[in-house]
Amino acid sequence: MNPFLVKGYYSKELFCDREEEIKMLLRNVSNGIDTTLISPRRMGKTGLIMHFFEQLKETESNTDILYFDIFATRSLSDFVKCLAETILKKFPEKTNFGKKFISILKGLRPLIGYDTISGEPQIQISYHSNQEKEHTLQSLLQFLDSHKNQIVIAIDEFQQITQYPEENMEALLRTVIQQLKNIRFIFCGSKKSMMLNIFSNTKRPFFASTQYLNLDKIEKTKYAKFIVNIFTDHGFTINEDTVEFILTWTKRHTFYTQSICNMIYSFDEKNTNIDTVKEACYEVLKQNEPVFLQYRQMLTPAQWNFLIAIAKEDEVKQITSQKFIASYNIGTPANARRIAKSLEEKELILVSQEKHQTIYQVYDVFFSRWLQHEY
Ligand SMILES: Nc1ncnc2c1ncn2[C@@H]1O[C@H](COP(=O)(O)OP(=O)(O)OP(=O)(O)O)[C@@H](O)[C@H]1O
Ligand SMILES: [Mg+2]
Repeated sequence: MNPFLVKGYYSKELFCDREEEIKMLLRNVSNGIDTTLISPRRMGKTGLIMHFFEQLKETESNTDILYFDIFATRSLSDFVKCLAETILKKFPEKTNFGKKFISILKGLRPLIGYDTISGEPQIQISYHSNQEKEHTLQSLLQFLDSHKNQIVIAIDEFQQITQYPEENMEALLRTVIQQLKNIRFIFCGSKKSMMLNIFSNTKRPFFASTQYLNLDKIEKTKYAKFIVNIFTDHGFTINEDTVEFILTWTKRHTFYTQSICNMIYSFDEKNTNIDTVKEACYEVLKQNEPVFLQYRQMLTPAQWNFLIAIAKEDEVKQITSQKFIASYNIGTPANARRIAKSLEEKELILVSQEKHQTIYQVYDVFFSRWLQHEY
């Protein structure tokens, strides 16, 4: 097995650092505080949650853990379906709590089936009214709340609830959550402005109800040590400069760093140097090229030109500055702002608000490197 994961979670040995974040999550869970976990895509939110759950399993045997991802949900009823399936997966029909759960569900006339391949539960519930959906959400969570153990629920891609047609979704969920005694929540999301809007807007139901955890890049020395150790443990030799090159080229953005290390490992050349890394980078870019060309199809020439400009600069602080606009033929400051906004909406550029400045980058690190290389 390739020890550099590019998806999911395997074990703590293959997971780097995040000790402070784990401490905070533990502290929050044991002090009755819900957490909002935010980071750009592919920085490691889901990995962190899985890692946290592993630790909880080891240290808190009287805590049960539920995780679900609502990225694909489109409505309150999808949300309820997702929740119900997660509960049944956690507490299968043969367990006592699972039996109780089935009897609660029976009142809702569900169709319960199991996926023939994965064996995972699939639940269809039909409703007579919207009120019934709301009531179902409440009864499922209250049912979980009755469990003898404390329960931690992590909901991934939480910002999705703002896209539901039900306008009262946030209010509904907040009201139900407030009545629970035994359940702690972790709300995760990658769309920072949407997440901040849910949790920091005084006019919205979740205002100030959670503590923020902003997941940043893994610290450089820790990541370098992690990479060297894994390679060395598998009989590779790799020196500091080579690792430094990997971390710089991938901007220490977790998924991209992992991907390059994964590729290097797959070459199986035990003596790894900068040339090996460059070959891995080249290979990864080549594999992704069809996707990048697809982007070009999707965009106007002005948007494409703007992306190249950002990539060439690596990062840009003043997209409306005369220098930037003139160097890359962007037109007017208003043009720059409009294009940046549309590319941000498409998640092609990442806009980070720092204390005293705003930074624009091409969101996908490989795409950024490819643009730099091709243009
Ligand atoms: N601390 C870590 N050490 C090693 N690998 C990690 C770490 N955190 C995440 N990864 C790996 O990096 C990749 C991206 O992480 P993950 O999927 O958790 O990101 P994410 O923030 O949830 O992304 P998305 O927003 O797209 O859901 C995965 O392959 C994961 O295995
Ligand atoms: Mg994720």
